Amino acid sequence: MKTPSLLPEPYKIKMIEPIRLPSAAERRERLSEAGYNTFLLRSADVYIDLLTDSGTNAMSDAQWGALMTGDEAYAGSRSFERLEKAVQDVYGFEFLVPTHQGRGAEHLLSKSWIKPGQIVAGNMYFTTTRAHIELAGGIFRDVIVDEAHDPRSEAPFKGNVDLKKLKALLDADSKKVAYVAVGAPVNMAGGQPVSLENLRAVSALCRERGVRVVLDAARAVENAWMIHEREPQCKDWSAARILKEMCALVDACTMSAKKDAYVNIGGFLATHDRGLYEAAQNLCVLYEGLHTYGGMAGRDLEALAVGVREMVQDEWIAHRLAQVRYLGERLDAEGVPVVKPFGGHAVFVDARAFLPHLSQDDLPAQALAAWIYEACGVRAMERGVVSAGRDDEGRNRRPSLELVRLTLPRRVYTQTHLDFVASEIGALHRRASRLPGLKIVKEPKHLRFFQARFEPVPVAAAASRG
Ligand code: F0G
Repeated sequence: MKTPSLLPEPYKIKMIEPIRLPSAAERRERLSEAGYNTFLLRSADVYIDLLTDSGTNAMSDAQWGALMTGDEAYAGSRSFERLEKAVQDVYGFEFLVPTHQGRGAEHLLSKSWIKPGQIVAGNMYFTTTRAHIELAGGIFRDVIVDEAHDPRSEAPFKGNVDLKKLKALLDADSKKVAYVAVGAPVNMAGGQPVSLENLRAVSALCRERGVRVVLDAARAVENAWMIHEREPQCKDWSAARILKEMCALVDACTMSAKKDAYVNIGGFLATHDRGLYEAAQNLCVLYEGLHTYGGMAGRDLEALAVGVREMVQDEWIAHRLAQVRYLGERLDAEGVPVVKPFGGHAVFVDARAFLPHLSQDDLPAQALAAWIYEACGVRAMERGVVSAGRDDEGRNRRPSLELVRLTLPRRVYTQTHLDFVASEIGALHRRASRLPGLKIVKEPKHLRFFQARFEPVPVAAAASRG
C-alpha cells in the first residue's frame, strides 16, 4: 500500500483552544449519562470532535477582522450588500435570501415550491431536507444510482442521479414533481460527488420537461474539487469555475454556510428565479427575520461574505480533501472497513462490516459511534437506521448503509490528531467481536437521532437474534 501523504496546511496557527482526553472511567460514565448518543455528550468531555464539520470550522484572520465591520442595521445593512455581491460573484445567482442556517433555506424553499401531494425527487435524502419536504406536504423519492447504496463500490461518482429512475418519475407525471433536489456531494452516501456530466444531463432533462432543479450547495465546493480530480474534462478547471458551472445548471440552491464557507452559523437561499426570490423573501420575514439579515447578525453576514470568497481558492479546498483522504488511508491501513472512494468532508466507517455479529436491529452504527467515544474520546456520528427515522406507517426505514461518520472540521485538527484517531479505531477494530449493540429507550418524534437515548444489548442476546 502507498504511504498516505498529506499536503502541509496552507496556514499557521495563531490562537489555540485546549482539549483534554478524559480518563477511561470518565468516558464510560459520560457515555452512559448521554444515553449512548454522541449528540448528547458535552463538548467538554470530548477529546477530538469529529461529530460534524457544520459550524465547527476555524475562521481565518480575514474573517475575524470582518466581524468588526458588521453593520447591525435592522434593514438594508451594508453587510448584506457585501454578502449579496459575494454570492453573485462566486455562485452566479442573482437573488439572495439569507437564513439562519441551511434548514431555514430548506423551509422557505419547500413552502414556496411544494404543493401537498407533490413529489420531490432527490439523490438520496438528507435528514433536515426530507423533514422540510414532508412538513410542506411533499413526498420524497430517491433517484440516486444503485452504487450509492453499496459501501464496497469504488465508482468515482456514487452521488449521481440515476437518469432512468428520474425519467420514469417524469414520464409518469412531470406535473406531480415539484422539483428535483440534487445534493452535491451526497452526505448520507458517504460524501460522494455528482459529476458535472450528470448534473448537465439532469438539468437538460428537467428543462425539457419544465421541472425545476435545486442544488443543495452545503459542500458544493468539495464536490467541485472532486470533479476537478476525477472528471478528465475538468482537470484544468479551478474550483471557482466548476462551482459557477454547477450553479448555472440549476434554478436555485439552498446553502448551509456552516460547511464550505468556514463560518460558525449562517445560510441562504439563492436563485436565478425572481418568483422564488419574492416568495422566499416574504416567508423570510415570518420565519427568519427581515430579508436583509435572515436570522444572522450583521457581523455574521460579513464573515460569511469573506468565507464565500475564500472557499473557492484552490489551495484551501485541495488541502481539505487531502486531509480527509489521509485519514481514510490511515484507517484503511489499520484494516478498518471504510467507504471508498473517500468523499469530501468525512471518512465513513462501514459499521456492518466492523461489527458483523450485530443485526441492523442492534443499531450497529449507533453502537460503533458510542464505542469509539468510550475507547478514545473521539466523537463521531451515526448515519444509519437511527438517522433514517420512521415512515408514515411508523415502521423503521431500513437504509442499506450503516455508517459512522468521522467528520473533519475545516482548518481545526492536525495530522497528529488524525494519526491518533486512526490508530485508536484500528485497535478497537481488533477487539470488535466483543462489542455490544444498542436498543432505543427514548425516541423523540422529529429527527430522532439528535435526542434519542439508548441502552446496550449484550453480545449474547444480539447473537441469538442475528
Ligand atoms: N444539507 C446538507 C447536505 C447537510 O449536510 C446539512 C447539515 C443541511 C443541509 C442542513 O443545514 O445544519 O445548516 O441547517 N448537515 C449537518 C451535518 C448537520 O452534520 O452533516 P443546517
